[in-house]
Amino acid sequence: MKNVVLIGFMGTGKTSTGRMLAAKLGCAFIDMDQKIEEEAGISIPEMFAQKGEAYFREKERQLVTYLAGRRNAVISTGGGTVKDPENMRQFRKTGVVICLTASVDAVLERTSHRGSRPVLDQADQGNRRQAVEQLMEERRDLYRQADHTVDTSELSPLQVVEVIQRYLKSRGVIHA
Ligand code: S3P
Repeated sequence: MKNVVLIGFMGTGKTSTGRMLAAKLGCAFIDMDQKIEEEAGISIPEMFAQKGEAYFREKERQLVTYLAGRRNAVISTGGGTVKDPENMRQFRKTGVVICLTASVDAVLERTSHRGSRPVLDQADQGNRRQAVEQLMEERRDLYRQADHTVDTSELSPLQVVEVIQRYLKSRGVIHA
């Protein structure tokens, strides 16, 4: 099977959907952020604070190269993985790319726990909505590179998985 690569903004459900989809398809699940944390032995917020964002992006780039070289995996990317066009080029070679989207309100609710999203925590509490709106706008065209997009605002993770499975069947990526 081609890899199924989930891209999208923070809080759109890439990790929970990815894990459930992989279980349904009986294939490997790889969460990029989690893998980077495991390999570095520190959390992503710690990595941003101690080594800077550029260091994290380099780790991300190296991991994309490795993952694009394999098959049969559902891969949940980080919200900013799309910023490097080379990352997308590599993923597209061996995978089908699905973008998850959500409304600003849904993203704010799902990412309200401070301390885990360093790119949002840079904005103070009052400006969090503005930070989300601005970053979403900046990245809109990058997320549009996906083969298919699913708005998760009003859907449960299980419903999102069902929509993705239908799409994968229609494209002949999966058969069952
Ligand atoms: C980031 C999103 C995060 C993580 C890092 C940077 C971003 O992943 O990779 O904090 O730039 O949007 P999630 O989308 O899983 O929160």
